[in-house]
Amino acid sequence: MSNVYSLLNIGKIVAGAGCIEQITDIVADHEAKNVVIITDQGVWNSGLVEKPKALLEAAGVNVHIINDTPPEPTVDQVNAIYQAARKFECQMIIGIGGGSSMDAAKLVALLLTNDVALRDLVKGKAQIKRRGVPTLMVPTTAGTGSEATPNAIVLVPEEELKVGIVNGKMVPDCVILDPIMTINLPKHITANTGMDALCHAIECYISKKANPFSDTFALKAITLISRSIRTAYNDGHNLAAREDMLLGAMFGGISIATSSTTAVHALSYPLGGKYHIPHGLSNAILLPGVMKFNLDVCEEKFRDIAVAMELDLAGCTTREAAEKMINNLDSMIKDLDVTCDLAAKGINEAVLDDLIEAASKVTRLLDNNPKVVTKEDMRVIYKELL
Ligand SMILES: NC(=O)c1ccc[n+]([C@@H]2O[C@H](COP(=O)([O-])OP(=O)(O)OC[C@H]3O[C@@H](n4cnc5c(N)ncnc54)[C@H](O)[C@@H]3O)[C@@H](O)[C@H]2O)c1
Ligand SMILES: [Zn+2]
Repeated sequence: MSNVYSLLNIGKIVAGAGCIEQITDIVADHEAKNVVIITDQGVWNSGLVEKPKALLEAAGVNVHIINDTPPEPTVDQVNAIYQAARKFECQMIIGIGGGSSMDAAKLVALLLTNDVALRDLVKGKAQIKRRGVPTLMVPTTAGTGSEATPNAIVLVPEEELKVGIVNGKMVPDCVILDPIMTINLPKHITANTGMDALCHAIECYISKKANPFSDTFALKAITLISRSIRTAYNDGHNLAAREDMLLGAMFGGISIATSSTTAVHALSYPLGGKYHIPHGLSNAILLPGVMKFNLDVCEEKFRDIAVAMELDLAGCTTREAAEKMINNLDSMIKDLDVTCDLAAKGINEAVLDDLIEAASKVTRLLDNNPKVVTKEDMRVIYKELL
């Protein structure tokens, strides 16, 4: 555990069914007359942007829409969104969608106030001097927790790797967590993104950067997600479960903001960067294997997680409780039908060396894993998935 730790704050969070109505007050608080909503085709076609757009327009706000954020966008794709957004001279950026739209929105807001090129930012060559245009995030997956983190992830195609830009000035100003915005989220996306949120919480709890702030939010996230993920999957219209998932995902994001993800996310990056497996899915399939690998050094923390999961631990030793926790991850994945045909994506023994090479570069996350992960360890973990 670190000696010095900090927690970055979101300015305002509203939560609860129907709270999207508060969008006009939030925009008025920022005296914004011109706003840009950044979203993607799936969210746009599901009609989720209509209500916030109508509410804002009725309040006299000019609403400009960018609705073509690609899934898990590249540097150039985010740059194109920025070029489109800058013409509108907006006073506020609103991200409505999953991590792809919210990350794009966070980066666009930052680029609007800093004279830097996104490519330089990605390479760590540019300095961010000021906060971006004020941002409001409305997550429609539960999920990345991007609404609470200082991170934005972009794909760098020439390196076939996803890169995280991390800057405290990117923590959003406001967040609306309305479970109604998630009730039509397709089942497999509910499962994958929910497991991503669970990864954030578990990884942050066992990270070398774990601290009292992250522990508090991570354990609560684990309770909320493990209690409700199956219900959200089986009965998408269950608002209580959807609310638990949105809260759990955001608490996972807050944990990332003060701790860090670890080996699950590090090994997942090449699966997304080169083979375009969705972020949540690649993390979900790696989670049990990486936790089995970490078991020896994490018995007590895994017991804490088992307690947070409200598992029946009567009579269990610490080791048995830790093993029950891992078994619960396996059964969750089964119950949620989380599967990924790696062979169909071109992933087989022949590409293992490339995967290992790419994952080894994600030292930002690997260094926080409680146990050193050697290349041979990576090989064993990846091989289990084939
Ligand atoms: N910034 C961070 O802290 C952070 C953390 C983790 C992941 N990420 C990044 O976030 C991205 C992944 O985000 P994601 O997992 O939320 O997926 P996503 O944003 O790519 O969305 C996945 C799909 O779900 C659809 N969708 C979203 N909400 C919907 C709804 N309510 N109804 C119907 N369809 C809906 C979208 O149209 C899209 O097709 C990746 O690029 C990942 O690297 C960022
Ligand atoms: Zn993630």
